[in-house]
Amino acid sequence: MRLMTCDEINDMRVSGQDYKAGCPPVDGEMLEDHGAAPEDGDDQVDPWSVSSSSAKGVDYDKLIVRFGSSKIDQELVDRIARVTGKTPHRFLRRGVFFSHRDMHQILDAFEKQKSFYLYTGRGPSSEAMHVGHLIPFIFTKWLQDVFDVPLVIQMTDDEKYLWKDLSLDECHRYAVENARDIIACGFDVNKTFIFSDLDYMGASPAFYRNVVKVQKHVTFNQVKGIFGFTDSDCIGKISFPAIQAAPSFSSSFPQIFGERTDVQCLIPCAIDQDPYFRMTRDVAPRIGYPKPALLHSTFFPALQGAQTKMSASEANSSIFLTDSAKQIKNKINKHAFSGGKDTVEEHRKCGGNPDMDVSFMYLSFFLEDDDQLEKIRQDYSSGALLTGELKKCLIETLQPMIAAHQERRRLVTDEIVQQFMSPRKLHFNC
Ligand code: TRP
Repeated sequence: MRLMTCDEINDMRVSGQDYKAGCPPVDGEMLEDHGAAPEDGDDQVDPWSVSSSSAKGVDYDKLIVRFGSSKIDQELVDRIARVTGKTPHRFLRRGVFFSHRDMHQILDAFEKQKSFYLYTGRGPSSEAMHVGHLIPFIFTKWLQDVFDVPLVIQMTDDEKYLWKDLSLDECHRYAVENARDIIACGFDVNKTFIFSDLDYMGASPAFYRNVVKVQKHVTFNQVKGIFGFTDSDCIGKISFPAIQAAPSFSSSFPQIFGERTDVQCLIPCAIDQDPYFRMTRDVAPRIGYPKPALLHSTFFPALQGAQTKMSASEANSSIFLTDSAKQIKNKINKHAFSGGKDTVEEHRKCGGNPDMDVSFMYLSFFLEDDDQLEKIRQDYSSGALLTGELKKCLIETLQPMIAAHQERRRLVTDEIVQQFMSPRKLHFNC
């Protein structure tokens, strides 16, 4: 399906085709942030599918141009280090978080003692979370620690009900079960509010008011252009983007921010969620709110290779947070795509290709030591390190990491989940 370009969406608005809904475009205002539409052969990246024809995975530099975002360059990484006084997270050092919108603005304000809040989320489509799902949460936890700011986490159980063949009760149950895994990442209960849309939408008049404000300022034509909805999609899907937009505005959480409608929001998320927030940033000034800033991550590759991302619905593509040490070992040995050569002789002679090797890719997400990672890259490329040895190194990195997660999750009681998920005041000083 071909999505519309920025110019086409603007043309539509300027020509008044989307006037019917009663929200006239502001004169001369352009939809911001949108890059060019995908061309044939481009990687497919949208909230519902991600695929690339290259074994190295999606071309992220091209995506920055297409989406009209900015690259997280060394200068920004150094600035984050300076402002926080902390070593940048390995996800920043290694380009896992590679793109942003307005991060400099967040840092400018932070340097003047103006605080902000974090917003991220998860669509709970099953009980089973995999290691790839942890990426945004591991990073968000680090951001919460180094900036000492409040965080809201949206569990879009409503979204999964609308998109999948699941009952409302199932989606709600998955939201609570997934919240347990998220809490196990170590968030501070005094600074974190996790909410199920199905619960919070009905309980918070302020949240719903913001949903309605967004709904009034986005037309069917625009969401069709941004998300590719068609006439046969149910109307719940068509209005859902307003629900994902609302947590970007501090007035959706009066229990946290009181009367403040202007606290800046920073959203760490995978780049496939960007369409929601391009829409949000377009609407924000028209309803009197600051635009949220964003930090975008790359995708976590499937075991079979970086052409697709890890998917919970493909058991063999994923390492689940519930997998035993033995399952982790077997899956990696059996399924992890190798950039090595077919025979040991050939591998020793020509070396392997770490850029196509899934085990190496996973190590670059999870191995903390930069020097050790670099040595592995060199030894694998030269042929000194064999595929089996590389896999062993990954297995030994993941097994303790996942066992520790399981242990922390075991300690998350129903009461603790309840605490995180109750609307309440958080520690926030503005
Ligand atoms: N739509 C996201 C998903 O399916 C969930 C989500 C809601 C989200 N709000 C978010 C993700 C904000 C990142 C940031 O997973």
